[in-house]
Amino acid sequence: ARVGVLISGRGSNMAALLYASRAADCPYEIAIVIANDPDAPGLALAAAEGVPTFAQSHKGLKRAEFDAIVDVRLRAAEVSHVALAGYMRLLSEGFVNGWAGRMINIHPSLLPRYKGLDTHQRALDAGDTVAGCSVHLVTAELDDGPVLGQTRVAIVPGDTAATLAARTLIAEHQLYPRVLAELVTRERNPDYLLGLVRKHAL
Ligand code: GRF
Repeated sequence: ARVGVLISGRGSNMAALLYASRAADCPYEIAIVIANDPDAPGLALAAAEGVPTFAQSHKGLKRAEFDAIVDVRLRAAEVSHVALAGYMRLLSEGFVNGWAGRMINIHPSLLPRYKGLDTHQRALDAGDTVAGCSVHLVTAELDDGPVLGQTRVAIVPGDTAATLAARTLIAEHQLYPRVLAELVTRERNPDYLLGLVRKHAL
């Protein structure tokens, strides 16, 4: 499988996907890294690692117009799957539909809890004892879509949003490559995605 990774910033999850892909038995490769911010640190890392990159600021462009530019770049790179990794843009419906079942996202909470931003602070404020991260198929709704995998992360006394985020990030870096590898392998079974969609609809 050929994966396009969309980032907006640091790109540590992109790096986790990339380094995992260098294992001989990894079923995917990173074909391109695309950022909506030309100054995204992750973009420089991808370039230094020899991965093709593309940057296009979204500023001044309509959402669908911007997504169409990204889409063209993904298809030109012959991408089969898209992984969002800290990509801070809502996606247009056309783009989401075009990659249905083949686009995933990582989110730093145990979905369906805490969609959106400030997940760690919200978990602490709620008095949760467990946090975590989720990888899910991307649908039109923010941080929605069938969950493909989760890792639980304990909240410890004295945790702040920063310490919890740092620990959860370790779990993210383990989870994301594993789930992506599973998706590109298991979807060869035609019942797999249908089963997921049904489960989600219940
Ligand atoms: C991660 O915590 C991810 O779960 C969230 O945004 C953060 C991105 O970090 N969606 P990075 O750019 O992958 O380092």
